[in-house]
Amino acid sequence: MFWPTGLSGRVSIVVLVAIGCVFAMSAVFYVEAENYTRDKEQFARIGERLAVNARVLSFVAIEKRAEMARTLSAGDITISWLPADTHIQPQAEDLLDIRDRIIQTQGFPLDTHFTLVTRAESVSDVVGAMQLADRSVMAFIISGLKDRPYITRGLFSALMVSGIVLLVAVALIRVVSLPLRSLAHVADTIGRGPEIQVSEDGPREVRYLARAINSMQERINQLISDRTLALAAVSHDLRTPLSRLRLRAGFIEDMELQKEIEADAIEMEAMLNEVLSFLADKNSREAKSKIDLADLLKAIIAEVSAGRDHILYSGPEHYHFTVRPLALKRVILNLIDNALKYATQPEIVLIPGHRAAIIVVKDKGPGISHQEVKRVMTPFYRIEGSRSRATGGVGLGLAIVAREVERDGGTVALSNREGGGLKVKITLPLEELS
Ligand SMILES: Nc1ncnc2c1ncn2[C@@H]1O[C@H](COP(=O)(O)OP(=O)(O)O)[C@@H](O)[C@H]1O
Ligand SMILES: [Mg+2]
Repeated sequence: MFWPTGLSGRVSIVVLVAIGCVFAMSAVFYVEAENYTRDKEQFARIGERLAVNARVLSFVAIEKRAEMARTLSAGDITISWLPADTHIQPQAEDLLDIRDRIIQTQGFPLDTHFTLVTRAESVSDVVGAMQLADRSVMAFIISGLKDRPYITRGLFSALMVSGIVLLVAVALIRVVSLPLRSLAHVADTIGRGPEIQVSEDGPREVRYLARAINSMQERINQLISDRTLALAAVSHDLRTPLSRLRLRAGFIEDMELQKEIEADAIEMEAMLNEVLSFLADKNSREAKSKIDLADLLKAIIAEVSAGRDHILYSGPEHYHFTVRPLALKRVILNLIDNALKYATQPEIVLIPGHRAAIIVVKDKGPGISHQEVKRVMTPFYRIEGSRSRATGGVGLGLAIVAREVERDGGTVALSNREGGGLKVKITLPLEELS
């Protein structure tokens, strides 16, 4: 089949096919309509003959009527004569339509009793009777009667044509837009995990787009890895002068000053270590495995609290789910750490869903103002005030949370609790192990 390379060409083909469908179907309906007219003539002819035959029979002497009836039988109408007051079966419901069409014939004697009784062996044959003036009966069989439902009723046929054309067009458009959809899917995953090359096929425009996205992906990744390398190098190299600084601080006579400088150096070292571990991203290659999520959360709580802080857990006793355990542990630890540093009374809630697991970490405290909610997830962002507080941390906690959760296609939502406090809702979608 001829399949153009451009999007416009393909859409044109769709339109052409749709127009073709309309044409083909109109042709069918045209034939239908023609048949309908022909049928109309057939009914008129039958009506006329029945009327004439009845009149002829009425004029013939009673003893000759049976024979006359036989003579009148011809073609598609067979006539017979029955004496007066022969019982006639009632009109058949399903033949009412045909009866109506026959008696519409010009000159049809409407004062007579005219009934169509039944269909004969062949469905196109109809048996009926007509009462003559002297109450004797002319029975007849009409054969070869055309009687199909007529699809010519305007609205119905129009609806049918539109429906079919629409179906065909939608199917074709789906085919045309298929490469676009897979492209959008890839674009959506850029920056989350390994680089996926978009296959450069489909219509011309889509191929250009795929190529553009691929090279953009390359540039973005290059940019990220350049910056990461630079940052890692600086962080790493800073550690040497920092240790020297600590060493030299040991020679300061003023003990007060010496302690302060040492504390600063220790804090700086902790920050550098945090940055380095963020950049090293050890969890990126961790394999997924099915574990008891409830157990993991309870174990983390036990480890963190160690008898001191009281952290509440609510949720099922056991719940198996596929995750990267170490990455998830890091996420939960970061959230608990924040809850303990910036607020109080941390709580962890596990909500098992059918297609996702939801983990909520909430606390009682200041929460995060509406304007800050978006920014706190970005690396190195700390809310003003946290900087001056001796809370440690460099603003990577929530960035790690977002990175690890989104890497598995999950989402993180921050909101403030009524009465003060932060609520972090993590949704992890169920994924089959691949
Ligand atoms: N539970 C919380 N309650 C109030 N503020 C919070 C909470 N968690 C985080 N924050 C604010 O968000 C900022 C960013 O947090 P985070 O990314 O973990 O970095 P860090 O803890 O290193 O400062 C913190 O500086 C803090 O001001
Ligand atoms: Mg933190």
